Amino acid sequence: MPPDNLIDGRAIAREVHAETESRVAALKEAGVEPSLVFIRVGEDPASRVYVGMKERTAAKLGIRSETTVLPEDTPESTLLKLLGKLNADSSVHGILVQAPLPRHIDETTVFSTVSPAKDVDGFHPVNAGKLMLGEGGGFVPCTPGGVHELLIRSGVTIEGAEVVILGRGNIVGKPMAAILCQKNKHANATVTLCHSRSRDVAAHCRRADIIVAAMGVAGFVKVDMVKPGATVIDVGVNRIDDPAAEKGYRLIGDVDFAAVQPVAGKITPNPGGVGPMTIAMLMRNTVRAAEQQTGEVTR
Ligand code: GUN
Repeated sequence: MPPDNLIDGRAIAREVHAETESRVAALKEAGVEPSLVFIRVGEDPASRVYVGMKERTAAKLGIRSETTVLPEDTPESTLLKLLGKLNADSSVHGILVQAPLPRHIDETTVFSTVSPAKDVDGFHPVNAGKLMLGEGGGFVPCTPGGVHELLIRSGVTIEGAEVVILGRGNIVGKPMAAILCQKNKHANATVTLCHSRSRDVAAHCRRADIIVAAMGVAGFVKVDMVKPGATVIDVGVNRIDDPAAEKGYRLIGDVDFAAVQPVAGKITPNPGGVGPMTIAMLMRNTVRAAEQQTGEVTR
C-alpha cells in the first residue's frame, strides 16, 4: 500500500469553489454578476492552456469571463490603453494579464497599470505592499495563496515551523515568504528563501518542516534533501521531452515525487496539487473584488 499522505489539491479546491459559488449566488441575488477579463498577448502554449482552464472554471462558478487575445507584436502602449479602459469599466471586477508577456513589454509596468481594486492576481505594488506590511484587504497572489490554503486545510502546523522556499520569483517565492512569516494565525513560520545563488540548498532543505519547491527545475528535490515527516509542496511545472508521450513531452514538478513520497509526512501530487488551488484562489479573489466594488460585502 502506498502511504496515504497525499494533499489532494483537487478536493480542497472543490471546497473553496463551493464557498465561492455561494458568494456568487449572493452577489447575483443583489443584481451583481461578478466578471473577470483575461488578457493574453501572443500564443505561448502554456498560457493558452492556463487561460482556458481559468475560463472554464469561471463559467462553472457563474463568474462571467471574457478573454482578449492580442498579437505577439502588440505595442506596450496598446496594452496599457486597454487596461485603462477596463479599469474604468464598472461592469468588470477583475483583470488578469497572463504572464509571461513578450520581451518588449515590461511586466512591472503592466501589472502596475491594472487598478489595485481589480488586481485579482495580487501583482500590483499596492497589493504586494499590503502583503509585506501584513495589512488585510489587499489581494494575495493566487499560487502562494493557494499553497497557504492547502497547508491550512490539510492541518499542517505552520506556526513555528521551519519553512524552506525554493525560488524567489515575484509570482510565488517572494509572496509565499511574506505570507508565512506574518505575525498571524496560520503563519508565524521561520522562513528561509533559497535561490540560485544560495549555498548548500540541500542542507537548508534537510532542516525544513515544510518545503515549498517553486524554482522551476524538474525533479530538483531529492529524497536525501527531505527530513522524514516533512511536508513537501511542489509548485513546479516543467516540460520535459518524452518521445513516448502523445504530445512529445510531459509535465513534471520540482520534486522527485516517486522517491520523496514515502518519506514525506504530507506531499502534493503534481498535477492535482497546487494547480487547482491557484485557480480556486483566482475565483475567490474575483468574487471579493466584485463584493468590494459594489458594496455587496458578505465577508
Ligand atoms: N503566469 C504564471 N502564473 C501566473 C499567475 O498566477 N497569474 C498570471 N497573470 N500569470 C501567470
